[in-house]
Amino acid sequence: MATAAAHRTARTQAPGPMGEAGSTAAYEAAFDASVAADERIEPRDWMPDAYRSTLVRQIAQHAHSEIIGMQPEANWITRAPSLRRKAILMAKVQDEAGHGLYLYSAAETLGTGRDELLDKLHSGRQKYSSIFNYPTLTWADVGAIGWLVDGAAITNQVPLCRCSYGPYARAMIRVCKEESFHQRQGYELLLALSNGTPEQHEMAQDAVNRWWWPSLMMFGPPDDESSHSAQSMAWKIKRHSNDELRQRFVDICVPQAKSLGLTLPDPDLVWNEERGQHDFGPIDWTEFWEVLKGNGPCNDQRITQRRRAHEEGAWVREAAAAYADKHTAGPAAEIRGSADENGKARA
Ligand SMILES: [Fe+2]
Ligand SMILES: [Fe+2]
Repeated sequence: MATAAAHRTARTQAPGPMGEAGSTAAYEAAFDASVAADERIEPRDWMPDAYRSTLVRQIAQHAHSEIIGMQPEANWITRAPSLRRKAILMAKVQDEAGHGLYLYSAAETLGTGRDELLDKLHSGRQKYSSIFNYPTLTWADVGAIGWLVDGAAITNQVPLCRCSYGPYARAMIRVCKEESFHQRQGYELLLALSNGTPEQHEMAQDAVNRWWWPSLMMFGPPDDESSHSAQSMAWKIKRHSNDELRQRFVDICVPQAKSLGLTLPDPDLVWNEERGQHDFGPIDWTEFWEVLKGNGPCNDQRITQRRRAHEEGAWVREAAAAYADKHTAGPAAEIRGSADENGKARA
């Protein structure tokens, strides 16, 4: 039986006459069969340790990116040019916090708690997407982030809705719906600026010039330099290579830039009739590795702000935990508590 049911059965069976090694091999065979049959792996199913740790690393990095990604845009909430724009931006930034929550919860199903992951983020042992280490210099950057950064995120995340790990795949379905709204709001914002005064048009173009190349880097290093890709593809965590997704994103953006009346800052960007795709210029991977190493324009600022927010939010977590304890314990515990305090139970 090459099914998830078989795989769950294998998990619950006691080691047979083959002993421990033999039963692990049986679990592994059932796991491989489930993945091959495009079935979902669920939290209580047996899975290889490396599959679990790969997922925790990827989901954690994704969750960290969602919450760090709130910072560059939140920078503009108080300076949004109208009430309507402010309301849209607040909703968008709040969505990103929600995405962080879904993802930390997905990581929890793999046995890794949120405290541990946040600790790794704060101490620099886990990364977030380097795109958020660039500054938001003008209001048009809010538009460029929505159009390009959220657009690149959707391109990456739509295939993750079919990821082999159930909780991650299901979280992505909702995230992608919200990301579509983020992408549209960025596009609409840039369109308004592009059709505005010459200064507004110039501001929109400048933002696109600065965000274009970092957006292409969001898909990760080229396939021949990507260390985790092959195994993740075999496990169906990842469905397409970095270069495939990057190409898809470029092909989506070119006509959209045209209808925005803006240009993409790449003189080598041209339609290739033979390939049926756009050719584009070389990406500056030195910049990518430098930002990843911590030398981007805002790395220190982002992590300092995150640590501060975590410390300042300690009282909220403590209050929520105290409330949850009280709630879980119920009335009987309250009576016990009163008895402890007063020496006898209240009537
Ligand atoms: Fe998001
Ligand atoms: Fe988003």
